[in-house]
Amino acid sequence: MRLYRWGISAALGGLVFGYQLGVISGALLSIRRELGLSAVAQGVLVSALPLAAMAGSLLAGRLADALGRRPTLMIGAGVFLVGTGLSVLAPGYAVLVASRAIVGLAVGLVSSAVPLYLSEIAPPAVRGRLVTLQQLAITLGILVSSCVDLAFASAGSWRAMFAVGLLPAGALLVAMLRAPETPAWLDAHGRDDEARELLRLVAGEDEVERLLAELRRTHEQRTRQLGVRELPRSDARPALVIGVTLAAVQQLCGINAIVAYAPTIMERTGLSAAGSIRSAVAIGALNVAVTVVSVRLVDRLGRRPMLLVSLAGMLVSLTLLGFALEMAPGPSQGWLALAAILAFVASFAAGIGPIAWLLIAEIFPAQARAAGAGVSTATLWLTNFAVGLAFLPVVAAIGAGPTFWVFAVVCALGLAFVARYVPETKGRSFSEIDAELRERWGQRAGAVLRAS
Ligand code: BGC
Repeated sequence: MRLYRWGISAALGGLVFGYQLGVISGALLSIRRELGLSAVAQGVLVSALPLAAMAGSLLAGRLADALGRRPTLMIGAGVFLVGTGLSVLAPGYAVLVASRAIVGLAVGLVSSAVPLYLSEIAPPAVRGRLVTLQQLAITLGILVSSCVDLAFASAGSWRAMFAVGLLPAGALLVAMLRAPETPAWLDAHGRDDEARELLRLVAGEDEVERLLAELRRTHEQRTRQLGVRELPRSDARPALVIGVTLAAVQQLCGINAIVAYAPTIMERTGLSAAGSIRSAVAIGALNVAVTVVSVRLVDRLGRRPMLLVSLAGMLVSLTLLGFALEMAPGPSQGWLALAAILAFVASFAAGIGPIAWLLIAEIFPAQARAAGAGVSTATLWLTNFAVGLAFLPVVAAIGAGPTFWVFAVVCALGLAFVARYVPETKGRSFSEIDAELRERWGQRAGAVLRAS
């Protein structure tokens, strides 16, 4: 079916940047050896990507409004190819860092534009499924990167590890050449005939006029596309609070620190890690498997129940992991830590992993969607960077156990936030979501305005 073909085309973006996120851990082992890098130099190399991704996400909002969602994705794919090519050929450290920053810029562009594209191309009934395809692609990209790292590890060929990233980036570019612009963008730019034709293709003849009327309804309320700076003072403020908070919780719960740290934890607890890259493959496979289930369930169960179960599961598993690390070393400690890590990854994949991206793309009103998704995605990369920077120093300062309890507190706060503020968006049109947000937040926002 055409809709899924276009959905998969855009979701390739997740494969591209999932690969880039994962490949560095294996590549770093040989880069470190070959270039003789200090800990600080390695830190700079790793953090170039999330920092540049933050800038890329903000830029994506502007490009996606001005040029369209599809050209933004294509530009992202082009920047990926340039950045990746440069990292394959990098003659030394400085160029390597620059190339990772260029790749980061592309990660920002693509990670912000893919959910936007998918949420706008999908009819409401399958929007969850289509947008969460991105997370499935991200987890696949990470898994493939650990396998590639494993394959090239003994040869130490980090250039080959990076080079493989050219394939999904090229595939994204080619696939998007054959995919259409979204109906919402076309309609908002006066190209209603094209929008109508596209709606006919994705939803069928009977639905066209109703869906077009839906688009118009958000259209009428719209004056013009809002910029990033206008968001906090606009009607989009509740959506902004939700998008930014979910993005921050998705990272501040420690997913990347825990996945990266898992082999060390396993070694500390006496269970052999059987090679750090190999345990990354196992965790990556679990992440993919549970995400497959989430993609299938998200339009049936709804976003809220899945988020609540996910955050509760993460809260419990992080608390247990903290206890395990405080216990005396031994087999029972090892098994408890292992079970807690697996339960944590499965809980992440069952909710906040895919659904943070989904809500970021569906919660904003039309006039603020691109800018809002951009700011929320930039927050995701900022907090990703912050956890990467702070994790090891915090472990050194307060110990590993208490550090995981800090992550557990983030999950508890996230749980309370979702329970109180996040609306159910399953099966709803964008204008219905907008109406529910106004209702849920209307009084509260009014109270804030009166008080100020
Ligand atoms: C997160 C990444 C994470 C990945 C793991 C994504 O949704 O944004 O930070 O590494 O999921 O599955």
